Amino acid sequence: MSKTQYIIALDQGTTSTRCIIFNHKGESISISRREFAQHYPELGWVEHNPEDIWNDAVYTIKSALTEAKLDQDLGSIAAIGITNQRETVVLWDKITGKPLYNAIVWQDRRTSAFCQKLKADGAEKTVHDKTGLLLDPYFSATKLAWLLDNVKGARAAAQRGELAFGTIDSFLLWRLTGGKVHATDATNASRTLLFNIKTQSWDEELLKLFNIPESLLPEVKDNSTLFGVTDVNLFGHPIPIMGMAGDQQAALIGQACFEPGMTKATYGTGCFMLLNTGDQMVISKNRMLTTTAYRLNGKPTYALEGSIFVAGAAIKWLRDGLGLITHASQTHDMATQVNDNHQVYMVPAFVGLGAPHWAPDARAIITGLTLNATAAHLARAALESIAYQTYDLSEAMKKDSGKDILTIRVDGGMSANDWFCQFLANIMNITVERPSYIETTAIGAAYLAGMASGIWTNLSDIQHHWRQGASFRSHMQEEERVKKLKGWQHALRQALLEVE
Ligand code: G3P
Repeated sequence: MSKTQYIIALDQGTTSTRCIIFNHKGESISISRREFAQHYPELGWVEHNPEDIWNDAVYTIKSALTEAKLDQDLGSIAAIGITNQRETVVLWDKITGKPLYNAIVWQDRRTSAFCQKLKADGAEKTVHDKTGLLLDPYFSATKLAWLLDNVKGARAAAQRGELAFGTIDSFLLWRLTGGKVHATDATNASRTLLFNIKTQSWDEELLKLFNIPESLLPEVKDNSTLFGVTDVNLFGHPIPIMGMAGDQQAALIGQACFEPGMTKATYGTGCFMLLNTGDQMVISKNRMLTTTAYRLNGKPTYALEGSIFVAGAAIKWLRDGLGLITHASQTHDMATQVNDNHQVYMVPAFVGLGAPHWAPDARAIITGLTLNATAAHLARAALESIAYQTYDLSEAMKKDSGKDILTIRVDGGMSANDWFCQFLANIMNITVERPSYIETTAIGAAYLAGMASGIWTNLSDIQHHWRQGASFRSHMQEEERVKKLKGWQHALRQALLEVE
């Protein structure tokens, strides 16, 4: 390579948008990040303004380029890779490019009753067999149906072929290409409830079930390929977009979990644990999801996924909701200040519970409070709750895969907390590995774009870039572990009882 080439990774998450520029060695050379507003118009509803998402995407790309002093040297940018919060739905006008309504976020529960009805009608088995998913408001299809039925004129405009639907990747791609490309990738499509992961195509029967016109749907592409080229007016130079994946799948790639059995857990707003199952589409008997991990050269690799809706969001709540902390990192010292959890347990069902319970109407509780309980106990209970939930996922996955999980690779904001990683290793009784670079979602998107543009050759080339930063082994006595887990299960039962 005569001249250094760079990759732009755009990571559009649930609470922030960030752009990281990587060089050909996979080293980050600049980063730009912006938090954006969350809208809660009604109880259980969560929305984003798509224009905020778009403006922040352009802003973070431009400022990362400026910081890297590459804004006058755009020819050295080989490609853009996009990764995103999954399942969140945008419906826009193909002519004006304007969204008809806010984006309905994956955490939004407004279609809970619709999902219950479909379940009562016996639709879940078909949905599960074809998509690997379950009937829960988490996924896109019922949200899209809600938009079509509740936004004035939407269904009629959709029937006339005037509208486009997309998850955030698709919406950004449309805007970046100046409205020229309406496409998504196989991982994002896999989260819509409309995509058959066996045949890797949109499914007619599912479209009918959710009453979705086919004309709305984007083309589904591999994860590492040419998606389109940015409109020249945006950055002054056209840049190819050559990688795209949902953020959890991008993190799996960033963590180099390419062999069947390899597992990662990403602690962002939620926590999503993915276990690579290779070319086997393992259908869970324990309420886990089956999903496309990545699709390269037309060949899908699958994963089992456990989705916990609240991880970092519980810490954010301690900060913004309760005002107990001013920075997430304080929870580390607070957790170490106290000898134990003082029997205080938090079940962080702020937006219902995901895997393996799938209880959209459950709500968060804190149990075991006495007058001796302090802010430190609450912080510790919040951290512990995320570890207990990860334990529950791994138990279900072990049953589904028939294999023990001995090691788990962790990443995302909370993985920087040593106390949390150690507690996770203790409670799961496994080895927790943290890579030296924890922005695995962004680097995963960069790898996908870099493979398509020729910077990296293939997955084994990428594998060599993964470096262990720290490793945590269990040193908790079995008796204590069992006691803590019993306390957690007791609290969990109480949260679930409320909705029975
Ligand atoms: O499925 C939702 C997930 O993609 C959101 O990820 O990183 O925003 O918690 P994150």
